Order: sequence, then C-alpha cells, then structure tokens
Amino acid sequence: MLFKNALTSPRGPAVMDMLQSVSGIILALFMWAHMFMVSSILLGNDAMYWVTKMFEGEPIFGKGYPILVSLFALFILSLIILHAFLAMRKFPATHRQYRTLHKHLGGVRHTDSYLWYVQVVTGFALFFLASVHLYQLIMHPADIGPFASSDRVWSGRMWPLYLILLFVVELHGGIGLYRVMVKWGWFMGKDPKVGRKRLTLAKWVLTLFFLVLGLLTLAAYMKVGYEHQDRAGERYLPAAYSQVNRAPQGESH
Ligand code: HEM
Repeated sequence: MLFKNALTSPRGPAVMDMLQSVSGIILALFMWAHMFMVSSILLGNDAMYWVTKMFEGEPIFGKGYPILVSLFALFILSLIILHAFLAMRKFPATHRQYRTLHKHLGGVRHTDSYLWYVQVVTGFALFFLASVHLYQLIMHPADIGPFASSDRVWSGRMWPLYLILLFVVELHGGIGLYRVMVKWGWFMGKDPKVGRKRLTLAKWVLTLFFLVLGLLTLAAYMKVGYEHQDRAGERYLPAAYSQVNRAPQGESH
C-alpha cells in the first residue's frame, strides 16, 4: 500500500526517498552484523559452528532448521531488490547525462559528488555480486559451517567473488550511511562543516575496520579450506560432540 502510494501520489518522490534511506540503513547495519557473525571463524571452528546453529534456530527448537537461513536470506534479497529499484531512478541513463555528470565532477571537485558517483558504481556492481552469494545461500542453507563454508571459499573458488564483494559492499554501505546522515542532518551538530568532517572521519574509520576484519576473515576461511581440500565435502564435527557423542553428526543435521 505504502509502495503503491509512493508510485502514484504527489508526495511519491519524498516517500520513495524515505523508503530508500530506511532500506539502505537496514542493509548497511545488517552488513556490519553479518561481518561480526561470519568473523566468528577467527575465534575457531567451534565458534563459527555455534553461530551457524544459532541461525538455524537450534537453541529454540532443539534441532537446526536450515530453512530459517533461506527465509532470512530471501528477506535480505527482497530488501536489496527494493533498495535497488528505488535507487535506479537516480542513475544517469543516457550518454548525455553521463557527459554532463563527468563535466560536473571535473569542474566542481566536490568530495561528496565523487562519493555519490562511487555509490552509483558500487551499487550497480552489487546487483550481480550479492545475487550470486544470496542465491547460493537460499538454495543450500544447510551448507554453512566451518568446513562447508571454507570448502566453498577455497575448493568452490568463491574467494575471488568474496574479495571483490567485500570492498564493494563496505564502500557502498559506509558511503551510504554517511550520505543518509548528511541528508537528514543526523549527528551533524551545530556547525555543518565540522559535522561533515566528523562524519567523514567516522566513515573512513568504520570502513577501514570492516575491511581489515573482512580480509582477516576471508583469509581464515581460505586457510581452513586449503587445509581441508582433500576432504572437501566432509562436515565439521564440534569438539564437544566428538568427545561426548561419537555418532556421525554433520554441520547442519
Ligand atoms: C547484502 C547481502 C550480503 C552481502 C553483500 C554479503 C557479503 C559477504 C561477503 C563479502 C562475504 C565474505 C566474507 C569476508 O570477506 O570476510 C560473505 C560471507 C558469508 N556470508 Fe554473506 N553477504 C550477504 C548476505 C548474507 C546472508 C543473508 C547470509 C546468511 C543468512 C550470509 C552468510 C554468509 C556466510 C555464511 C559467509 C561465509 C562464507 C560462506 O559460507 O560462503 N550472507 N558474505
């Protein structure tokens, strides 16, 4: 209903702008939370196994339901589609618009205009890169875990995609949040110039932090996957299970 109104009412552009900001904020915050969860591998295989089981609802239902992961990934994919649809209105569409934009960027030397362009380019790349990752998760939700994920990263040769995705998504999310703050005047303080400077610094610190965390995490998956390549496909058996229960339990069942 809100969406239909947004398309037809005179206040449509404002509503669409708001929906775009809200979906963008949720996606950017999700990405940071996602990075912390995925980086559990840095604490060891058992820690990542535990996070996986939590997402499958095991602490609540007594057994893991990977379908929950599919549903969650579907929800994130829907948010991306909504966000991208709303953003598309602002993409330059014709050769003439691109020429004008380049002329403008060459003339004004305004950092925020460059950031907007980076946002357009990284957003476009995300259409393709994020879809590959999400489709994989939606269709194979049980294949997440210390060995299953690492095998996908190394033996499944996903690491080049993840490496590019990491830079693209962290730049896009960081710049996006910064632009939303400036647009709606959040955390700007009394002096907009000082506020902008403070937000720029915060943006780079956060982007750098998540890039370093992401690179270390990816390296950890690559290492586990490399060492496990001869047994790729075999599931992780947590230390607690293997001591107490010698039955062949997998990562996801
Ligand atoms: C906006 C959507 C998403 C983006 C852009 C994204 C991005 C990424 C990136 C860049 C990595 C590599 C990690 C690294 O470089 O350190 C990764 C790994 C991973 N992501 Fe996502 N992700 C998204 C959504 C999801 C969702 C919805 C889930 C689960 C419900 C998920 C689960 C995982 C898992 C388990 C890994 C570890 C490697 C693997 O199992 O393939 N991601 N993701």
